[in-house]
Amino acid sequence: MALKETNPSKPTVTGCLQLLCGVIFTLGTLLTLYITFIKSTLNGNCIPLPSDANRHYNPVQKVAKKPLILIWFWPEDLKFDLDDCKKHLNIDGCRLTDDRSLYLKAKEVIFFHDAIKDDLSNLPRLRRPAFQRWIWLNLQPPANTRRIEGADNLFNLSLNFRKDADIQVRWDLTYNKILGKAPSLPKKEHVVCYIKGDKVADNSTGHSYYKELAKHIDIKVFGGSLSWFQNTNFDAICSCKFQLAFEDLIYRDYITEKLNGPLAVGTVPVVLGPPRLNYEDFVPGDSFVHVNDFPNASSLADFLKRVDTDDTAYSRYFLWRQYFSAHRHPVTDNHKYLKAICSACDFSVRNRDYRVIRHLHKCPGTAGGGGGGISGT
Ligand SMILES: *[C@@H]1O[C@H](CO)[C@@H](O)[C@H](O)[C@H]1NC(C)=O
Ligand SMILES: *[C@@H]1O[C@H](CO)[C@@H](O)[C@H](O)[C@H]1NC(C)=O
Ligand SMILES: *[C@@H]1O[C@H](CO)[C@@H](O)[C@H](O)[C@H]1NC(C)=O
Repeated sequence: MALKETNPSKPTVTGCLQLLCGVIFTLGTLLTLYITFIKSTLNGNCIPLPSDANRHYNPVQKVAKKPLILIWFWPEDLKFDLDDCKKHLNIDGCRLTDDRSLYLKAKEVIFFHDAIKDDLSNLPRLRRPAFQRWIWLNLQPPANTRRIEGADNLFNLSLNFRKDADIQVRWDLTYNKILGKAPSLPKKEHVVCYIKGDKVADNSTGHSYYKELAKHIDIKVFGGSLSWFQNTNFDAICSCKFQLAFEDLIYRDYITEKLNGPLAVGTVPVVLGPPRLNYEDFVPGDSFVHVNDFPNASSLADFLKRVDTDDTAYSRYFLWRQYFSAHRHPVTDNHKYLKAICSACDFSVRNRDYRVIRHLHKCPGTAGGGGGGISGT
C-alpha cells in the first residue's frame, strides 16, 4: 500500500526534471545566441568598425594611445628633432608633430605668441574640436610681450615662466632620493665671471650693475656677440667661484637658465632679478648670493673678496647639494624652447582640466602681483 501511495508522486518528480531540463536548454540557447552576437560584434559584422574619425571616443584606445600635440609654429623657427623630449629630458608621454594636416586629431595645439599675427589670420581656420586645448606659449615677461587684441578667450592653457601658469617652464632642482655627501669644493680659476648676451642693452639694470661691480673687483667676461643661451659654456662657468646671473628684465618668477647654469656645475650664482624671497620659491636660500643683500656694488665686491679667501664661508653655499641636484640644460640654439614644449607634452598626459584664459594681457605687476585672469573648473 505504501507503494501505491508513493506512485502518484512519481510523475511529479519526472515533471520537475523535465522543467529543469527545459530551463537549462533555454538558458543554453540564450547563452549561445549571446556569444554569437558578441562574436559578430567583435568581428565587425553587425556594427561597423570605428573609423579614424571616431577612434577618439573609444576609451580603450584613448588610454593606450599617446596624446598628439601639434606645434603650430616653431618658436623663432628653432626646430628640433621630435624625439628630443625623450632623448634629452626623458619625457615620452605624447606624440609631437608639426604637421598641420593633423590639426583635427591633436589633443593640444601649441601657439608661440610672437608668431601670431595681429589679425589672428595665421591661426587655424577649421573649427576647433571640442576636446582640443590651445596652449599659449610665451617665455617673455609682459614688458617684452606684444599685445594682441582678440587673443583673450582664445587659449585654454598658458605655458610660461610664471608660477601661476598652467604649465610652468623652469629648470627645477630635483630631490636626492639618497642623501648625498657634502660635496668637496671644485677647483676654481676665477673669482667672479660674467657672460654678456648680445641682446642685453648696455643701459639695462643688470649690465649697469656689472659695470659698477667691475670697478671694485676683477671680473672674467665670457662670450661676445652670441646670445646668453648660445654662450652657456658649462666648463667656463665651472671655472668660477661666482657667476653673475643677472636677468635681462626684472619680473616676478622670471628666473631663467642663467640661474640653473651655475647651480648645475657647482658655481655660486650672484643673482639680480626679482626679490630674494621669489628665488627662494624655487631654490634654497643658501644656494645663491642676491645683489639686494648689499647696499651697493662695492660692498658686494668686498663680500665676494672675503668669501674667496674663506673656504668655510664658501663651502656653506654647497650644503644644499646634499638634498637637491641641479641638472645641465641643453644649450644648442635650437633647443631654446625644448623644455617648454616638452613640459606641455608632460602636462598633457597628466591633466585634462577644462579652462579658458579670459584675459591674456591682464598680468600682475612686479613683485607680489595677483592672478592672471585664468578661469576654469
Ligand atoms: C636704454 O636706452 C634706450 C635707448 O638708448 C632707452 O630707450 C631706454 O629707456 C633705456 N633704458 C634704461 C633702463 O635706461
Ligand atoms: C656702500 O655701502 C657701504 C655700507 O653701507 C658704505 O659704507 C659705502 O660708503 C657705500 N659705498 C658707496 C660707493 O656708496
Ligand atoms: C578652450 O577654449 C575655448 C575658447 O574659449 C572654449 O570654447 C573651449 O571649450 C575650451 N576647450 C577646452 C577643452 O577646455
